[in-house]
Amino acid sequence: MSGGDGVNGMSGMSGMNAINDMSGMSAGRLGDLLGISRPVVQGPFGGGLSSVALTAAVSDGGGLGSYGAHILTPEEITDLVGELKARTSHPFAVNLWVPLEDEARPWPGAAELAPHIQRLRPYYDELGLPAPQADDVTPGPDFDAQVDALLAAAPPVISVVMGLPPKRVMDQARRRGIPVIGTATTVDEAVALETAGIDAVVASGADAGGHRGAFLRPVRESLVGTFSLVPQVADAVSIPVIAAGGIADGRGMAAALTLGADAVQIGSAFLATRESGASAAHKRALSSPEARTTVLTRLFSGRTARGIANRFVRDLNPYEETVPPYPVQSALMQPIRREANAREQADLSSLWAGQAAALTVGSRGAQDYLTWLMDDFHKHQMA
Ligand SMILES: Cc1cc2nc3c(=O)[nH]c(=O)nc-3n(C[C@H](O)[C@H](O)[C@H](O)COP(=O)(O)O)c2cc1C
Repeated sequence: MSGGDGVNGMSGMSGMNAINDMSGMSAGRLGDLLGISRPVVQGPFGGGLSSVALTAAVSDGGGLGSYGAHILTPEEITDLVGELKARTSHPFAVNLWVPLEDEARPWPGAAELAPHIQRLRPYYDELGLPAPQADDVTPGPDFDAQVDALLAAAPPVISVVMGLPPKRVMDQARRRGIPVIGTATTVDEAVALETAGIDAVVASGADAGGHRGAFLRPVRESLVGTFSLVPQVADAVSIPVIAAGGIADGRGMAAALTLGADAVQIGSAFLATRESGASAAHKRALSSPEARTTVLTRLFSGRTARGIANRFVRDLNPYEETVPPYPVQSALMQPIRREANAREQADLSSLWAGQAAALTVGSRGAQDYLTWLMDDFHKHQMA
């Protein structure tokens, strides 16, 4: 549905009304769709920062736990879904990145890669890593094979980012009764996702941590803040809207639902919890004063993402536009990211964080955070 009279349109309050229940045991139409009792989605974390423990804890707590699987092989996806089903009897989502059309094709040869490897050589040296040879630098797992494995494993919910799910994914998911959530960074993307048959849409404001999911226009033309994006998406589509970006406490959640969202998707605040796969250094950074400002950078992966600035981001700032596109830069950076994480070295790690990251409190369990969030939300809902 397009136009300005979406079901959330004029009142902008349907989300608020739908979850008025003080017990927190009703999550409105998104709850009905997904089978969750709290209107809270734990944002998926790609790049190895999701964990089975976090996803299961959030799902057991009544929210929708999500697992970011975009770097996993098809076999790993099969195992992951099996493990999650064994860990929780509640619904959870597994998330994949839809490849962008011009994604690093053709794959660069040795001569083309050489200057990009050279630029990173001081960091390989500093961490005692051999600089990669061109042959070592390969694209990640094939999307079609990932999708086949995911559909066969049949998780309770599938979510995608960076594009429209292929028609066969929608057809097969529908046949198997699996709801599919898409991610939009603009109103046009939300409408395109609804037209493609998606069941619910994440309205991902530019405030959000991690990679920007723009797929219709370049990222710099798709940076709409959460406060502006959510009501416009709620007006433009009739499917449930999940607000993402810069939401970390009950005030943000109440605001998002007042703006017309049915639920919230929270990333950074869950990343800070004990169960997440983020390093201790990353978790510390999330609740530090450093996180009060964040930057958009291509330096870690070749695709624009929001995180806390550190030495690596400041040193390589002149090369923001020069580094190769995703997934080439991501492949070149993988050994550096991995080693820096293992050493808890925050100055070389990708410290992904949204604009409200500094509101997070370190070192608490995901269910404690979820319970606190719902209490805080009800307090602000009544204020
Ligand atoms: C470390 C990190 C990794 C992320 N990876 C993914 C991903 O693979 N797929 C996805 O749809 N969203 C991803 N996101 C976005 C989150 O799921 C969520 O929408 C976002 O963090 C919400 O904004 P917030 O961080 O301000 O709460 C990622 C976010 C972070 C912080």
